[in-house]
Amino acid sequence: MVNILFFCILLTITILFVKNTTSIHCVFDRRCLCYIKADLQYVNCSYTNLTSVPSLPSTVNVLNLKYNRIILLSNGSFKNLKHLLELDLSWNKLKRLELGSFTGLSNLQKLKLEHNNLSLKWKSFPLGVFGPLKSLRHLNAKYNDRDGFLACTNVITNLKQLEKLEIDVDESPDCPNIDKGFSNLTNLKSFRTGYCDFTYLSSYTFENMKYLQFIDISRCSISEVHDGSFQDQKQLKVLNISHINFDIYDISTIVENFRSTPIQKLIMTRTLRDTVSLAWDDFFNCLKQSGIKELQMGGNSFVYVIVKYPLPPTLEIFDLSYNNLNKFQFEMPNLMQLKLQNNGLGKFLASNRYSKQSSKRLEYVDLSFNVIHKLHFTIFHDHPKLKTINLSYNILTDISFDFSTLRSLEMLNLSHNKILAFSEESRNAISNIAKSSSLKIDLSKNNLQCGCNTFPFIQWMLENRYIFIGIDTYRCNWMNNSVITIFPLRPIVLQLEKECTSYTVLIACITSGIALSCVVLVGGLAYRYRWRLRYVYHMTRSKYKRYRPILDEGHYTYDAFISYSDEEQEFLLKDIIPNLEQKEILKLCIHQRDFLPGEDITQNITNAIHESKKTVCIITRSFLDSYYCMFEFNMARMESIYSRGGQNILFLVFLEQIRPSELPLVMLELVQKQSYIEYPNDEQGNVVFWDKIKETLIT
Ligand SMILES: *[C@@H]1O[C@H](CO)[C@@H](O)[C@H](O)[C@H]1NC(C)=O
Ligand SMILES: *[C@@H]1O[C@H](CO)[C@@H](O)[C@H](O)[C@H]1NC(C)=O
Ligand SMILES: *[C@@H]1O[C@H](CO)[C@@H](O)[C@H](O)[C@H]1NC(C)=O
Ligand SMILES: *[C@@H]1O[C@H](CO)[C@@H](O)[C@H](O)[C@H]1NC(C)=O
Ligand SMILES: *[C@@H]1O[C@H](CO)[C@@H](O)[C@H](O)[C@H]1NC(C)=O
Ligand SMILES: *[C@@H]1O[C@H](CO)[C@@H](O)[C@H](O)[C@H]1NC(C)=O
Ligand SMILES: *[C@@H]1O[C@H](CO)[C@@H](O)[C@H](O)[C@H]1NC(C)=O
Ligand SMILES: *[C@@H]1O[C@H](CO)[C@@H](O)[C@H](O)[C@H]1NC(C)=O
Ligand SMILES: *[C@@H]1O[C@H](CO)[C@@H](O)[C@H](O)[C@H]1NC(C)=O
Repeated sequence: MVNILFFCILLTITILFVKNTTSIHCVFDRRCLCYIKADLQYVNCSYTNLTSVPSLPSTVNVLNLKYNRIILLSNGSFKNLKHLLELDLSWNKLKRLELGSFTGLSNLQKLKLEHNNLSLKWKSFPLGVFGPLKSLRHLNAKYNDRDGFLACTNVITNLKQLEKLEIDVDESPDCPNIDKGFSNLTNLKSFRTGYCDFTYLSSYTFENMKYLQFIDISRCSISEVHDGSFQDQKQLKVLNISHINFDIYDISTIVENFRSTPIQKLIMTRTLRDTVSLAWDDFFNCLKQSGIKELQMGGNSFVYVIVKYPLPPTLEIFDLSYNNLNKFQFEMPNLMQLKLQNNGLGKFLASNRYSKQSSKRLEYVDLSFNVIHKLHFTIFHDHPKLKTINLSYNILTDISFDFSTLRSLEMLNLSHNKILAFSEESRNAISNIAKSSSLKIDLSKNNLQCGCNTFPFIQWMLENRYIFIGIDTYRCNWMNNSVITIFPLRPIVLQLEKECTSYTVLIACITSGIALSCVVLVGGLAYRYRWRLRYVYHMTRSKYKRYRPILDEGHYTYDAFISYSDEEQEFLLKDIIPNLEQKEILKLCIHQRDFLPGEDITQNITNAIHESKKTVCIITRSFLDSYYCMFEFNMARMESIYSRGGQNILFLVFLEQIRPSELPLVMLELVQKQSYIEYPNDEQGNVVFWDKIKETLIT
């Protein structure tokens, strides 16, 4: 009857197991949870304040008894659980295992006894207690006993299948090394310590565990490292020496012995107590011979890592995060992942590259948390395989580096920077890459601007919005300094378009206004100083064109240059030449006669004025109307101002009566200075007239 009832319960459980894969309360003990996963029956009785092992159906495969209050495992506790594969008894109060505790667990593969109170003191492990565990592959009994009892007895040395072992170690005089019995565990590949105290590390430490591939002695207290440590670990692939208070010599000693091991991965996170620069070529040389693939050296205090030699050619992953690096440069021919986050490389990388030459296999670079404000333009050149760049948590305001060569880029993480917008080159580069790869960019938590000057960027963002990860969380500064969410983008683009066209028109108006006033101003100035400019022009020209001896004061080729309009030719021939040249032997410059043929007329005029002591203008109405006459008058004026130190060289002869209002202002000025004479046109007056002129020309 009881049997039938039990059978029915079992059947119900089975049905429940099969029907429902999510956890449900177990029928046999409602404190526990039951479920089936991958054809295995799981029972989870953790956190239930159990003080002894509950009775369970024999079909259970995985039993979780974590975080209970079991003190004693009594004889036959798991007697009927012949299908049990995994048993977790960690975080209980276990003090003692009776000899028959594990009877029946002939298929058990994994046993966890971590964080209990099993120790030599309580005689917790009777010899042979693990005997029934014929299939056990993984035993975790660490964090039980500071005296490291299990390491120096042969309690577990008959677990021939054991592959993974986690126990406490204490190398005291009673127990100098890990017990000889462990040399019989030929399948043991992985060893990890819990409570751990090695007085010293030497070639004897693991002499009974020659087959280990994985050693984790992190958090051990180690006083000394002797030569030869690890040198006989001919299978060693992974060594974890994190969280140990080593100095640089301890590390050197260990690494030196790697020459003779096939180590692939060294984990030394927070291992060194001192601030050091990693400039020891030896370190990398020793690793080179071992074929190392991964180096995790984060959380130390490396400040400076620049080495002449390339990184070991086998190295694929290099982690130097959480150091104090201010310089880092290597040749990294085969590196695939470079982790440099949380350092102080900002200043260095602004003008330097981290790779000396081509990094043809690099796929992943993490440069986050480095106070980077700018990156060297070519920093990512020769990175044909680069897929991921993390530049988050820096202080970039724009993309100053060239990434147009990164054809394989898939992820550019720029979150938590101070980026305002992308420049046009960056936008083009991104669009180009996105055509050939599935590029994604994280621009969250930046300083994006939604204004008229960034309008092309916002517009481009709308067109390429599928590139941006988490775009619905991005925020930007609107023109009135309020912060708005950028998504959806289209209304923002429309509004910007509206606001910025008027803005553009305004800008255009202001610009053309300024340009116009410049033109007016320059034009005005040029007009105001037109004569001066022309004079300077001609003087300069003649100086360069032909050599003229500099005339002493008072030594001029001509006594006077006569400026007249062609209508007064008769007056010239009949009066001036006879009266002045023939009677008084003055040398006159007359344009018809004395100008050099072939020379530019304006040039001739300037030369004539320059080479004559005085310039006499025969003023008539046609003089005032003639372009060249006025040119001569003005050039003479300029000559007197700029070449003769202000001395008046102009003399006006009025042949006709001209009202002052008809005269140009500058001419009136001369008239006021009495520098003129009117032609009397009568016999007597003429004599006085010619005398006056002669007097003027001679003095
Ligand atoms: C077991 O149950 C506990 C408490 O209900 C829960 O916290 C834990 O995640 C479960 N463990 C597994 C492996 O399901
Ligand atoms: C276990 O015991 C603690 C303390 O006595 C109590 O707070 C907790 O509720 C108990 N848990 C269960 C599942 O009974
Ligand atoms: C454990 O119990 C079995 C019977 O269930 C008995 O034969 C055996 O002697 C006991 N072993 C110990 C060490 O008490
Ligand atoms: C182990 O047992 C001793 C003695 O009963 C007790 O003082 C100690 O707190 C226990 N340790 C743990 C981790 O339960
Ligand atoms: C190792 O196993 C062999 C036989 O398999 C046995 O003779 C020897 O005593 C064992 N060594 C230790 C130290 O247990
Ligand atoms: C190395 O040891 C540290 C500290 O115990 C641990 O956090 C880390 O997970 C370990 N790494 C590996 C790969 O075992
Ligand atoms: C950097 O970004 C990459 C890709 O987005 C991410 O996988 C990685 O976890 C980030 N690194 C840090 C330190 O957050
Ligand atoms: C970018 O990096 C930050 C932190 O470094 C991380 O939290 C975030 O998830 C990353 N973004 C993506 C898309 O991986
Ligand atoms: C700024 O402009 C936005 C959009 O036009 C508007 O919603 C917001 O109220 C304005 N804020 C201030 C402080 O003027």
